[in-house]
Amino acid sequence: MKPMVIAIDGPAASGKGTLARRLAVAFNLPYLDTGLLYRAVARRVLDHCADPTDAGAATEEARSLTRIDLDRADLRTSEVDRAASIVASLAPVRAALLDFQRGFAGTKGAVLDGRDIGTIVFPNADVKLFLTASVQERARRRYAERLAQGSQTTLEAVQADLEARDEADRTRNAAPMHPALDAHVLDTSTIDADHAFAAAAAIVNAAKKSLIR
Ligand code: DC
Repeated sequence: MKPMVIAIDGPAASGKGTLARRLAVAFNLPYLDTGLLYRAVARRVLDHCADPTDAGAATEEARSLTRIDLDRADLRTSEVDRAASIVASLAPVRAALLDFQRGFAGTKGAVLDGRDIGTIVFPNADVKLFLTASVQERARRRYAERLAQGSQTTLEAVQADLEARDEADRTRNAAPMHPALDAHVLDTSTIDADHAFAAAAAIVNAAKKSLIR
């Protein structure tokens, strides 16, 4: 059977990462969090005291990215959130990261989560899911994560940040975030991770059956 590619897109804190990891384990597929690529590029730009809006500098960092950059413990700070959103809006940065993302699925298939997986990176993915949730619920989740990291932020600040990043991700010219026409849209505002997983696994199993036929 042809290896499966499962594309999971959606805004920040919609539950994509949790769902993608569980699907990868359940269906025995490698998993790639593509947001980490943009975060690692942003981290490298900040480390070199460059300006994230500088397309030349950011593209250079994207081309120099190594797997070690993806394992850094300091990729999920508010500073990196903002810089990642900026570098992700730059078309040459996105282009520099495309081959790695496509190559990742290789011969084994993969689960990838991000903003443009079902639309640009794998437009022919076997399963496309687009997760959404109300901004209030997503802010509540992200705030809890930040508190657990020891951050001093407020719920209001987290929500304002999420709204600004979603707007930037949705309205940028390069690969704007939107559901693919053939994506299954799952609203996770009022369902927990187990229910989201059950719904998604049913969709993947149905797709698997049609691949076997
Ligand atoms: O999912 P995340 O919050 O870790 O993503 C970090 C940033 O990268 C966010 O602003 C959206 C952007 N991103 C993107 O543009 N395309 C992707 N495939 C993944 C993330």
